[in-house]
Amino acid sequence: MAKYRIALMPGDGIGNDVMDAAQIVLDKIGLDADYIHADIGWDFWCAEGDPLPQRTLDLMKETDCSLFGAITSKGKDVADKELAPELQGKGYSYRSPIVRMRQLLDLYICLRPCKAYPGNALNYKDGIDLVVFRENTEGMYVGVEYAQVPEAFYAVAGMEKLPRDAAISFRAITPGGSERIVRAAFDYARQHNRKKVTAVHKANVLRQTDAVFMEAARKVAAEFPDIDFDNANIDAMGMWLLKNPFNYDVIVTTNLFGDIISDLCAQMVGGLGFGCSGNIGKDYAVFEPTHGSAPKYAGQNKVNPIATILAAKMMLDWLGEGEKATQVEGAVAAVIAEGKVRTYDMGGDSGTLEMARAIAAKL
Ligand SMILES: NC(=O)c1ccc[n+]([C@@H]2O[C@H](COP(=O)([O-])OP(=O)(O)OC[C@H]3O[C@@H](n4cnc5c(N)ncnc54)[C@H](O)[C@@H]3O)[C@@H](O)[C@H]2O)c1
Repeated sequence: MAKYRIALMPGDGIGNDVMDAAQIVLDKIGLDADYIHADIGWDFWCAEGDPLPQRTLDLMKETDCSLFGAITSKGKDVADKELAPELQGKGYSYRSPIVRMRQLLDLYICLRPCKAYPGNALNYKDGIDLVVFRENTEGMYVGVEYAQVPEAFYAVAGMEKLPRDAAISFRAITPGGSERIVRAAFDYARQHNRKKVTAVHKANVLRQTDAVFMEAARKVAAEFPDIDFDNANIDAMGMWLLKNPFNYDVIVTTNLFGDIISDLCAQMVGGLGFGCSGNIGKDYAVFEPTHGSAPKYAGQNKVNPIATILAAKMMLDWLGEGEKATQVEGAVAAVIAEGKVRTYDMGGDSGTLEMARAIAAKL
């Protein structure tokens, strides 16, 4: 029996292309693992009314961890139409399988390293090396939304100001949820010899919810006197990150702000072809590129697999295979520095698999 069992979830579109590429690198590094294919994505919504079938969730729990490609998701109007005719009108409602898996498996950390590998012409500035910790289970993504204000809400003070046709979303921030993501950021900083943690919020406007987040952040920061702690408003942070990314080291924030900030950071180190992330909880973990299914490039052996190969590197680290992880990262860095094999986003015409084979050849 292999040492590890890993759920492979290619999903939709280029999720399949980049997963084939990552498999080439994982095979070459000689990870002693069985890979078990798992169903996820648009086809399963259309055919079964569930883009994250229960059998997939069960498999994710039984295996050591999961490697995920990308999914397609569409607005409610299209989703309802594309559902199999026999399932229509039976109460099926599309929900993002990614948001669901994060909540159902309590993957509360979204860890996104953003590193500018030397020689990458797409780097905004050379030397950027940031890590974003995004809270992954609460905030604006708790999934409590109403297309119209429910009548009963008008009994709550302040709600009477809302127009009757207002669509509303809830943002839930808990002391426990805040504390554990900030603690994860500080623990990481200490383990990886990082000097500073910056908490990002909008406490001047979101006076209740971000007060909870910042109170937890200050409490945890006091336990780590060896690590600098500062904070910034989300809007200012967008500006400061572009102005001087070198002022930041580890960033920790709530769900929606983290979603936005981590895409900004990914763009500074090469864009979607380079952005990788780990969704990590106490018991389970799922590693993925941050890009979507890019349908127009699906099956064309065209897109950049580096994001997925770096996600596989994060997975190796998480499994405790640090040496193999370092080798994979070294191989990626060497191919980027050499600049001979480049996918279209890097200004070249190399294919997805060619990039994977070039990286594997460095191992
Ligand atoms: N995590 C996910 O699975 C995820 C994330 C974002 C979007 N989506 C879904 O993906 C679908 C397409 O969304 P989108 O077009 O807004 O975003 P996308 O990330 O799929 O693609 C946007 C563009 O970025 C570029 N790109 C993406 N990945 C690349 C790669 N590996 N190499 C080179 N270039 C790359 C392509 O030009 C592509 O057209 C939608 O259904 C959306 O809901 C899924």
